Amino acid sequence: MRKLFYLSRFLTALFFPVLISFGMVSPGSAQGDAGYVGADVCKGCHEGYYESYARSIHAKKAIPGSPANKHACESCHGPGAAHVSAGGGKGTGIFPFSRKQIADEKAARCLSCHEETEHLAFWDLSMHKRAGVSCDNCHSPHSGRPENLKMSTPGLCYGCHRDINAMTNKQSHHPINEGLVRCTDCHDPHGTFSSKMIKADSVNELCYKCHADKRGPYMWEHPPVDENCLICHTPHGSNHNRLLDKKTPELCQSCHETRGHPGAPYTRFNTFNPPAGGTVSNKLVARSCLNCHTNIHGSNGPSTHGKRFVR
Ligand code: HEC
Ligand code: HEC
Ligand code: HEC
Ligand code: HEC
Ligand code: HEC
Ligand code: HEC
Ligand code: HEC
Ligand code: HEC
Ligand code: HEC
Ligand code: HEC
Repeated sequence: MRKLFYLSRFLTALFFPVLISFGMVSPGSAQGDAGYVGADVCKGCHEGYYESYARSIHAKKAIPGSPANKHACESCHGPGAAHVSAGGGKGTGIFPFSRKQIADEKAARCLSCHEETEHLAFWDLSMHKRAGVSCDNCHSPHSGRPENLKMSTPGLCYGCHRDINAMTNKQSHHPINEGLVRCTDCHDPHGTFSSKMIKADSVNELCYKCHADKRGPYMWEHPPVDENCLICHTPHGSNHNRLLDKKTPELCQSCHETRGHPGAPYTRFNTFNPPAGGTVSNKLVARSCLNCHTNIHGSNGPSTHGKRFVR
């Protein structure tokens, strides 16, 4: 569709003089280049914005064949003639990318060129689009930063995702604040086909990218591991060791009522060192399931020991 649109604009431009001479259109009603003034005019009043634009990739690269290329500032802000003849000022018909504007209208300006950009293929599915977040919440072509970002990650993301920020400060966490893992290693903020905008077909496929050893294959599999890593782990941070959702033995006992191992949870009165009135617990034996069941993600060990994930 867009190619057709460009073609029709190209043809209009080509045959414009012909159309005029036949009296079919009057100049000024033309959709061609009318209303555009060029970046040099803008520079006169917006030196700073001009400089940041001139240094940016947008001044240096063009989408092959796009007629929007030659409009520089006005490829995003729209034709500036009305704004200029009003002597500049707010609300004079130039497109400002302000907070008050409709998110989709802002994004459409960018997508007029970026529709074909690979990372934006799933923008329409993204939770950001659906939540009314637009390109200019994260990017400013005037920012002077890599990727035109307004701020680098994770700070950019924390600005809106304070809960995630809190998690990454917990005792066990993916080293995001340490700079070893980035939000964008796991998520594409422009949307993906998967839920929560993760960069893989499933949670497990995402985890295997960096934790390949957990994929197996194992002779003895532990079914929940294969099903979803997040049955036991949280992705961002946890107050329990190893990003675990719950601490052991509760984690294991939520599924296992074991014959040889008592399954009831511990209480303040039923422990190894009970207060007066309590009883010494036999459950201590089973307390640290992991002391014995070390290969919790699966095992290739022989016989029943392997089968029970015991070393
Ligand atoms: C004659 C001086 C002048 C020229 C030429 C000019 N501007 Fe402006 N522009 C202004 C002034 C003054 C403001 C108001 C700034 C403010 O209040 O902070 C403004 C505001 C804007 C805004 C914000 C509008 C709003 O509604 O909030 C944008 C975007 C803008 N200019 C872009 C451009 C572009 C692009 C060009 C070239 C096509 C251009 N300007 C040419 C003087 C000018
Ligand atoms: C690739 C798209 C793009 C191009 C090209 C571009 N701008 Fe912008 N401009 C934006 C966006 C997006 C914002 C809002 C940035 C923000 O919120 O920080 C903006 C903000 C501005 C503002 C401030 C508007 C306000 O509300 O006060 C001015 C003025 C401006 N641009 C002028 C220019 C001029 C002059 C040029 C050319 C020299 C230019 N821009 C080129 C996208 C663009
Ligand atoms: C006139 C066409 C055009 C428009 C409109 C446009 N862009 Fe671009 N943009 C480009 C081109 C061309 C590149 C360079 C692409 C490449 O290298 O593959 C680019 C690159 C980028 C990059 C990558 C920067 C980098 O450092 O690699 C970002 C981010 C970006 N644009 C954001 C935006 C946003 C946000 C808007 C809307 C405010 C916008 N663009 C509007 C043409 C455009
Ligand atoms: C929630 C924040 C956010 C929003 C919203 C967002 N982006 Fe981005 N964008 C990023 C981040 C972060 C990167 C850097 C990606 C990386 O580090 O892998 C990026 C990278 C890019 C790139 C360069 C990478 C590439 O594929 O070439 C382009 C182009 C781009 N964004 C365009 C857009 C456009 C157009 C929109 C609106 C339709 C948009 N972005 C909306 C955060 C955002
Ligand atoms: C190691 C991979 C990884 C990293 C790094 C990561 N995430 Fe996530 N994130 C996930 C997974 C997996 C989910 C949950 C997916 C599901 O439930 O299906 C998720 C879910 C989310 C959600 C949805 C709400 C929720 O709590 O479930 C948000 C918002 C989010 N992440 C933001 C971020 C931000 C912001 C960063 C960077 C500070 C980040 N993530 C870093 C893997 C990651
Ligand atoms: C301008 C605010 C804003 C910024 C900046 C922002 N987000 Fe979001 N994000 C939202 C909103 C609003 C939602 C939808 C409601 C929610 O889940 O909190 C959302 C949702 C998400 C989700 C959940 C998607 C789902 O399907 O539930 C993920 C993952 C996410 N954002 C990641 C990121 C990452 C990564 C960054 C930084 C590159 C980022 N966000 C930056 C506002 C923002
Ligand atoms: C982009 C690479 C990457 C991805 C994807 C990834 N991780 Fe990690 N993970 C790391 C790094 C780096 C560490 C820190 C390793 C270290 O400290 O030795 C880590 C550590 C861990 C730890 C140990 C934490 C601790 O406190 O010792 C667990 C558990 C973990 N990841 C689970 C997951 C799960 C579950 C997923 C999928 C949702 C996942 N990881 C996806 C890179 C990744
Ligand atoms: C049945 C619960 C459970 C499931 C499901 C699970 N894990 Fe774990 N994981 C654990 C436990 C318990 C530990 C702590 C082991 C320890 O401290 O000895 C752990 C530790 C880890 C560690 C850090 C120590 C190490 O062995 O490298 C990583 C990384 C990890 N898990 C990744 C994953 C991935 C990736 C998946 C999904 C393929 C997954 N886990 C599924 C229970 C689980
Ligand atoms: C989400 C539920 C779930 C959680 C949580 C879970 N398991 Fe399992 N586990 C299973 C299932 C299902 C099987 C296979 C069915 C079976 O043989 O009982 C299994 C099998 C086992 C086996 C082998 C049993 C056998 O009879 O061969 C052991 C040992 C085991 N799990 C230990 C643990 C430990 C230790 C934990 C805590 C770190 C744990 N599991 C957490 C669901 C879970
Ligand atoms: C002192 C070492 C040890 C501890 C601690 C331990 N186990 Fe075991 N567990 C074993 C051994 C050895 C077997 C194999 C017994 C057999 O083959 O007859 C086993 C068998 C199992 C089985 C499969 C057989 C059955 O009884 O259903 C499950 C499930 C299991 N353990 C879960 C757990 C859980 C959950 C915990 C923590 C609450 C735990 N274990 C703590 C050593 C231990």
